[in-house]
Amino acid sequence: MMCGIVGYTGPRNAARVLIEGLKQLEYRGYDSFGLATLGNGIEWYKRAGRIGEAEKDAAGIGGKTGIGHTRWATHGIPDDCNAHPHLDCTGRIAVVHNGIIENYTELRRSLKARGHILRSETDTEVIAHLIEEHSGSNLLDAVRDTLPELTGSYAILAIRSGEEGIVAARKNSPLVIGVADGEYLAASDSTPLIDYTSRVIYLEDGDLAHLSASGVRIFHEGAEVVRPVERLGWSPEEARRGGFPHFMLKEIYEQPGAFSDTVRTVCDLPEILLGCRGLTVVACGSSYHAGLIFKYIAEEACQIPVRVDLASEYKYFMAPTRDPVIGITQSGETADTNAALQSAKVHNIPTLAITNVLGSSVTRIADETVYMRAGPEMSVAATKSFIAELAVLIRLASLLSDRSLDITLDQGHRAIEEALLTDMGEAVQMCSSASHIFYVGRGPFYPVALEGALKMKEISYIHAEGYAAGEIKHGPFALLSRETPVIAVCTPGSTHDVMIANIKEMEARSTPVIALGSGADRELDAIADILIPLPDAAPVLQPVAATVILQLLAYRTADALGRDIDKPRNLAKSVTVE
Ligand code: G6P
Repeated sequence: MMCGIVGYTGPRNAARVLIEGLKQLEYRGYDSFGLATLGNGIEWYKRAGRIGEAEKDAAGIGGKTGIGHTRWATHGIPDDCNAHPHLDCTGRIAVVHNGIIENYTELRRSLKARGHILRSETDTEVIAHLIEEHSGSNLLDAVRDTLPELTGSYAILAIRSGEEGIVAARKNSPLVIGVADGEYLAASDSTPLIDYTSRVIYLEDGDLAHLSASGVRIFHEGAEVVRPVERLGWSPEEARRGGFPHFMLKEIYEQPGAFSDTVRTVCDLPEILLGCRGLTVVACGSSYHAGLIFKYIAEEACQIPVRVDLASEYKYFMAPTRDPVIGITQSGETADTNAALQSAKVHNIPTLAITNVLGSSVTRIADETVYMRAGPEMSVAATKSFIAELAVLIRLASLLSDRSLDITLDQGHRAIEEALLTDMGEAVQMCSSASHIFYVGRGPFYPVALEGALKMKEISYIHAEGYAAGEIKHGPFALLSRETPVIAVCTPGSTHDVMIANIKEMEARSTPVIALGSGADRELDAIADILIPLPDAAPVLQPVAATVILQLLAYRTADALGRDIDKPRNLAKSVTVE
């Protein structure tokens, strides 16, 4: 499930802390939400829809310990009843869960046969009833005895009326504990914790924890263990919008820093890449596009073949190569990417993760991890994490090619800053009145076109497709018209002339063309309806700058259309199901 969970125990009103925490998790995508506290017995509130002003409705909920959840429906429709928390028959136990209980059908059947009343259609509810069956002991033991009955993945938080504290458990689903003075939190990621503390403990798979006002105790395979308390590098301000109308715009403007901070920190070639003769990249969504750009850059600079596979395909259709596998995932939690890396590991193929999230699940799977330094990204559409991925990949290509691609920190920073100054009023007007837009490019600008189109469709809901420019006449030509603009990236270099020829073919079909290219390119200027000049930067930085301009074009278009930019419909930031 692509859900978010949060728990709190301490001196404050738990419901209020939980609602704030759930709001911080909204970016993960959700369709319903809820919370339960240890007040007068278990007090709870859950609803389908947006959190909005839930604090008003939940104002009467007391208690200083509680658990909350944002749900993305997988088992049962998004409604009030299927929203978490789920309670047992007695109403004394409440559970929130992120993950999937694979054997829930059998469990439901046997629970019902034993007389339990199940109210929802969810897989999660079985957990509450199983804990109820083990309730002879304290909650910690009851949860411990329940876990072996569950097959699948979970991050669970549970509370029981009359008993202090929260019990937490994790298996293949992230869970992080926040340690403050006399108060403790638990959540799917650190964003709800930032307001309270920068000290966190990342639970390991198989860990069971008890959080109460007197502290945190963690158990693994029956024994009490000590997990390190780590410091979060992110300040509360970093996690907030900082004056911009949308997180996405704020994050687009943070890209010069995200790029140079990342370049600065990737100094050594990871061991598994030393002397490699070929590489495979696995990723999804924008991260996949970053992988494709890397392919063009690395094949040219390093003269090694780079294969880029969609992670969702790789696991089932693995190529017969033993080259190291790089998994790119900004969240570190994408189920397909993590599963692809796991399959590579099963075949003893060395693995490297590139991620933005410290301690995320992918870091526990891969042999080595390289972090990008984009900071928290709240908007569902990936922007600064994508640019930071490119920063890591350019650095890796440079290190693999004896530094032939070395760029100064300043160069990347400057190219992005310049791209951010682009005026694109006319292009926005053209795009916002279109129903279909094609994006084309060649070489690394082909994946740039894919990424530009992805951004546009994600946030503006305009149908946008990226194409390798040479392919546009093999099909899409049938769709070109006066109302269907084409966005063409045409930079100086070996494919310039063929791109010009492609653009002319489109013009001949009355298609309006928005070109991204050199401001000094007279030929391009003469044939394009609109020419958006790219910054004058090193060739390896051109795809970075072009992507930034296309992100802004998508953002401005979506804004002109009044879309819910940070939370596009039906999308989630972190896709933790295959
Ligand atoms: C989701 C997000 C995309 C992201 C993709 C892969 O679909 O909405 O923005 O590109 O997942 O995410 P990852 O965390 O693996 O990079």
